[in-house]
Amino acid sequence: MTWLSDLEGAARTALPAPVFEYLAQGARDSVSTLESTWGWSERRFLPHVLRDVTDVDLSVPMLGSPARVPWGIAPTTQQRAVHPDGELAMAQATAAAGSVLVVSSNAGTTFADIASTGVRWWLQAYLPADRALAEPMLARAVDAGAEAVVLTVDTPVVATKYAAGDQVVWDVVDPELLRVNFDPGYEDAPGAEKALDLGPHDIVWLAEQTGLPVVAKGVLRPDDARRCVQAGAAAVWVSNHGGRQLDRAASTASCLPAVVTAVEGAAQVYVDGGIRSGLDVLAALALGADAVFLGRLPLYALVEGVGGVARMHGDLLDEAVEAFRLAGCRLVADARGVVREP
Ligand SMILES: Cc1cc2nc3c(=O)[nH]c(=O)nc-3n(C[C@H](O)[C@H](O)[C@H](O)COP(=O)(O)O)c2cc1C
Repeated sequence: MTWLSDLEGAARTALPAPVFEYLAQGARDSVSTLESTWGWSERRFLPHVLRDVTDVDLSVPMLGSPARVPWGIAPTTQQRAVHPDGELAMAQATAAAGSVLVVSSNAGTTFADIASTGVRWWLQAYLPADRALAEPMLARAVDAGAEAVVLTVDTPVVATKYAAGDQVVWDVVDPELLRVNFDPGYEDAPGAEKALDLGPHDIVWLAEQTGLPVVAKGVLRPDDARRCVQAGAAAVWVSNHGGRQLDRAASTASCLPAVVTAVEGAAQVYVDGGIRSGLDVLAALALGADAVFLGRLPLYALVEGVGGVARMHGDLLDEAVEAFRLAGCRLVADARGVVREP
């Protein structure tokens, strides 16, 4: 057991039960959540040998600007329920690692405060039935320096999840720690419910509203990936929401190669879901992802505040560098194809 591989167990011990359950749970029977990490570990590598791996460089372009590591932090809510410093700690450690932070629109810290850490950050947005209600929040993000908007496309409704105990996270967490970047009373406004009629035109609308590149998060199918790119998406993010939306959705590891083929380099392709180790990172890059995103791993690390998230970035880098050396890869581009389908 390493510190990294024991993070989930440590979080289970440290956090109030309803908070830990909220982080770990999947929708319905959690089939997709449970399968996600296995999706990476069932792939088998075909390493190169007799290659100089003295200087491993894991930097990648992400939407045009370089990131020092080929992973970013996926958007997650309730970070201030995990640690009082919440998004600020996540931002500080992620800035120091030279990575990218995607901030949930439901975050409990203002965009301006997050931006003040100097982190490179993108906004994640759900769109409401009445799109105009999202405009003030989008404007705040643009003003605070968001570099992109990530539109989550897999959540027309929030999937059912079952509670193990009497209390759920909403019973134990201060509602003030959520959605601080919306106008007061947003939730009660008519039309604030999630849009059931989301379409490619919303990618166009978001780009026009914000002037920022748009990333479509939650794509599993090659035909949908093509529709996103045709609508102008700068990147397609292969995700099943960590198994928290449609249970029994296919693993992202199994969906990634067909999406990469469909996009044909016209946009970047990112992936998340069950990435917990340097070997998982290598597997995802080998299957064609331009970069990966981490959801629960940094949330569990956040239990130890900024130091925990910093250690997560550092330990993951150590693991990834070792995996790259053993696979005979010096650069992220070298990793493409060092894997075979199961
Ligand atoms: C506690 C929690 C909250 C999340 N909140 C959001 C959110 O607000 N917006 C969003 O697009 N995805 C959200 N996600 C999904 C993540 O962005 C990501 O897709 C998923 O966690 C990746 O899988 P992993 O946790 O196995 O790494 C959330 C995930 C978790 C675990």
